[in-house]
Amino acid sequence: MNKSKEIEDFKKTLSMFSTGITIVTAVDNIGNPIGMTVNSFSSVSLNPPLILWSIDKKQPSYNFFKNSNGYVVNILSKNQLDLCNIFSSKSKSKFKNINWQRSNNGFPLIDNCLAWFDCVKWNDYPGGDHQILVGEVTDFNFCNLEPLTYWNSKIS
Ligand SMILES: Cc1cc2nc3c(=O)[nH]c(=O)nc-3n(C[C@H](O)[C@H](O)[C@H](O)COP(=O)(O)O)c2cc1C
Repeated sequence: MNKSKEIEDFKKTLSMFSTGITIVTAVDNIGNPIGMTVNSFSSVSLNPPLILWSIDKKQPSYNFFKNSNGYVVNILSKNQLDLCNIFSSKSKSKFKNINWQRSNNGFPLIDNCLAWFDCVKWNDYPGGDHQILVGEVTDFNFCNLEPLTYWNSKIS
């Protein structure tokens, strides 16, 4: 079978698993905030508290995230579709109109998210064309909002 058709079919089939949507944030080599939309987030361990996400090695921000000593996973609420779009774009000024605070570990906590996890790097592992980043959660919180979700290639 045609390889790119096979990959498209694989992606479509993966999208039948409904997920939440997150923005993972960190800082670049000169301390500027960086962030990208991510739905590969998953829980890993309760004790120690570990989570994971995976990043495509071709992402422009790949080296910053791979070498970062941590990151925040911001879980988006239903009314944050605009943030999902901004952070999955190639914009060079994603944080321009975003309200955020610095987490205890120094990474951007985006205002009004459904939940967040402030993480320090635990380890990273090869995963084909992606790298699997595992973080130890050092702080977290949530509020009672509805989630933004991804299913069947649709965000709602
Ligand atoms: C719903 C959704 C989920 C995504 N999940 C991931 C993901 O888990 N890993 C990844 O590398 N890219 C993912 N992306 C793509 C990135 O958000 C997008 O390529 C982004 O521009 C990368 O940021 P950068 O250009 O600043 O590196 C996702 C995009 C969307 C819309």
